[in-house]
Amino acid sequence: MNKKVEILPDQPALVARALELILSKLETAIKERGQFTIALSGGSTPKPLYEAIANQKLPWDKIHVFWGDERYVPPDHPDSNELMTRRAWLDRVAIPAANIHAIPTLEGNPEASAVKYEQHLQGFFHLTAGSFPALDVILLGMGDDAHTASLFPHTEALKVRDRLITVGNKDGNPRITFTYPFINAARSVIFLAAGANKRPALAQVFASVADDFAYPSRLIQPQGELWWLLDTAAGLELKP
Ligand code: 6PG
Repeated sequence: MNKKVEILPDQPALVARALELILSKLETAIKERGQFTIALSGGSTPKPLYEAIANQKLPWDKIHVFWGDERYVPPDHPDSNELMTRRAWLDRVAIPAANIHAIPTLEGNPEASAVKYEQHLQGFFHLTAGSFPALDVILLGMGDDAHTASLFPHTEALKVRDRLITVGNKDGNPRITFTYPFINAARSVIFLAAGANKRPALAQVFASVADDFAYPSRLIQPQGELWWLLDTAAGLELKP
């Protein structure tokens, strides 16, 4: 694994660096493989990044968008990660509807929705059961409890290693989430974390020894590149 940590002066600098990195991965992916696949995160940190991506001139028909996790609400619900992304980015550009691979949430049964998204991914990537595709970029946030995607501390989702998608559990509420082995198959994983409230979790995630079950972001050890983009408030006490 190739781990890189960058501490940027403030949130606008964090967004600018994330944009630059994503655009460079996009260029390489399209040159080498004819398309760019990216999984997005929810949370508040990436919203200005999505707005900045929408302002670029890009070959939208070659870009495929997925989500690393979703709240179990309809796509027009204010908590929906899909809705946030559509408003900030996707509704503002000419991306074909078929390139938007939203997490299904209308099955009335989170497990059925997880299976449906997994099957969609298997179809898109022409996978045989049990294999893990490499997305070009998986964008992640980290909560101040060290969760990432919807992989929360001490939950069953952290034990799932034979699936792409599973059901996460946020204080008893179901969420749909990538599993950590699927995230780890990516070519590049980019974490964005901002704010002083992330410091204690980051200290545990960067420690050489700590409990992976208590600090799920520790499980993210991709085969490709691992980027941690932090602002100074988050990165203050880190010695990368
Ligand atoms: C979600 C996210 C989640 C998020 C973190 C960080 O759907 O809630 O995918 O994992 O990235 O909670 O959120 P902030 O960016 O708001 O700190």
